Amino acid sequence: MIDSRGIRTAAFACLAVAAVFALVWGATYVPANAAEEEEGGLPDVMTLDGCGEKKGLVEFPHTAHFEVSDCVTCHHTTEGLTLENVAETEVETCVSCHFEPAGDGVPDCSSMSLKKNAYHISCVGCHKDMDTGEEAYAAPTRCNDCHAKD
Ligand code: HEC
Ligand code: HEC
Ligand code: HEC
Ligand code: HEC
Repeated sequence: MIDSRGIRTAAFACLAVAAVFALVWGATYVPANAAEEEEGGLPDVMTLDGCGEKKGLVEFPHTAHFEVSDCVTCHHTTEGLTLENVAETEVETCVSCHFEPAGDGVPDCSSMSLKKNAYHISCVGCHKDMDTGEEAYAAPTRCNDCHAKD
């Protein structure tokens, strides 16, 4: 069972923390330290926009998803990835393999299609699969609920 308040609270907490530390951290990627141990030193919210210009960028609450999924469900090529070993593990970006891939059958993240874009298959697919039907369920499935208006 997914606690919708959990992820939303986490998302808000993450945003608040991000806001407080934004000035100090700037846009730099920070390594894990004691204070950030819980989230592995990872940024709470990531801006995904490496796949093209047709639609607006997508704000992705990364750490909030740790409550609802294992790392490897999304990072499907990084065997055994966890919060505990992330500091010693090289995590390749989705974009490095999914942006205009050469291989047949590898979904392309520049695609408009909900069925052929790696992000759409992953993000929208899971949001539909895990839908509790409750009004409070907040996982977006419509284009402009994910993509910022230009
Ligand atoms: C393994 C399943 C899964 C995957 C994959 C996934 N999500 Fe989610 N997402 C969820 C669930 C579950 C929620 C929380 C729904 C709730 O309980 O309200 C959620 C919530 C969200 C929210 C709303 C957060 C809030 O509380 O307002 C956003 C935005 C979001 N996801 C974006 C994305 C994007 C972008 C991707 C792909 C990069 C993605 N998600 C991939 C399961 C997933
Ligand atoms: C759950 C969130 C989510 C939903 C819903 C969603 N997308 Fe995306 N989409 C993404 C993510 C993440 C990317 C990769 C980031 C990027 O480059 O914008 C992406 C990439 C794209 C791209 C390629 C990049 C670009 O901007 O040219 C297009 C086109 C696109 N989406 C169109 C759509 C359309 C049309 C819909 C509705 C039918 C839709 N998306 C619904 C998350 C979503
Ligand atoms: C719901 C899907 C999802 C889950 C669950 C998830 N991630 Fe991610 N993660 C992403 C996406 C999407 C990106 C951005 C990749 C990109 O820019 O191409 C990312 C980026 C990262 C990066 C940065 C990669 C880089 O070099 O920029 C690291 C490190 C990472 N994740 C670690 C983890 C760990 C550790 C966990 C589990 C505790 C985890 N992720 C869980 C989707 C997820
Ligand atoms: C090292 C390269 C690599 C990385 C990194 C990678 N992928 Fe993939 N991905 C592939 C290949 C190759 C396939 C096609 C073969 C397969 O299904 O394994 C694939 C398939 C997929 C599929 C289709 C699965 C299906 O059942 O149709 C999705 C969705 C997907 N990747 C999402 C992601 C997301 C989201 C990330 C980042 C969090 C990511 N991938 C990172 C190489 C990669």
